[in-house]
Amino acid sequence: MARGTGLRKSLATKFDDELRFFKGWIDKPKAVGSIVPTSSVTARRMASVIDPNSGLPVLEVGPGTGVITRAILARGIKPENLHAVEYSEDFVRHLRKHYPGVDVIQGDAFDLDKTLGDKRDMIFDSVVSGVPLLNFPVTQRIAYLEGLLKRIPAGRPVVQLTYGPLSPIPAGRGNYTVKHFDFVIRNIPPTQLWIYRRPAD
Ligand SMILES: C[S@@+](CC[C@H](N)C(=O)[O-])C[C@H]1O[C@@H](n2cnc3c(N)ncnc32)[C@H](O)[C@@H]1O
Repeated sequence: MARGTGLRKSLATKFDDELRFFKGWIDKPKAVGSIVPTSSVTARRMASVIDPNSGLPVLEVGPGTGVITRAILARGIKPENLHAVEYSEDFVRHLRKHYPGVDVIQGDAFDLDKTLGDKRDMIFDSVVSGVPLLNFPVTQRIAYLEGLLKRIPAGRPVVQLTYGPLSPIPAGRGNYTVKHFDFVIRNIPPTQLWIYRRPAD
């Protein structure tokens, strides 16, 4: 493919993703949480926490149009080892088309036992979460985190993005640690990344 044609095609895909994302935000502003997808800089930073040599699959939550999905695959995770839980039917259709082989599961990340079905006992290397948490009560955010931490080994990370200045999940409310990971200014809006872990015994 000529270079100009390739560039036009990738810009068209990017625009298509942004439009789809914006439509998702119009339909469900609280669930989608932002009017544009996460930047590739943020996506790469989040995917950097994965250990591709662990031999364990990865869980992505709230993949939207798949910016972070792409960054996770670029870390060398095989599509069949990536399980992505997304609520919106439209995003699910889009992800299945653009990320063939990735196990895209439609359902509620706040009810993972039901959503994961026969994969509910699977252990993952780490979790990458883009689900907006600030619209939920703190007790529900903590329950969400606990539901993720029980699916990864102690010491391994759940990485979460948020647009607020503080960790969306407070420290001292359960058996987990809270660590600020990064502030990414090259994102609309600028985003904070937090890491949560079950302390190793
Ligand atoms: C802020 S967007 C992030 C999308 C994408 N990861 C990105 O960074 O561009 C939040 C995503 O989480 C999904 N989501 C919101 N609530 C959810 C839930 N309870 N279960 C699963 N996915 C959810 C939304 O549909 C949307 O795709």
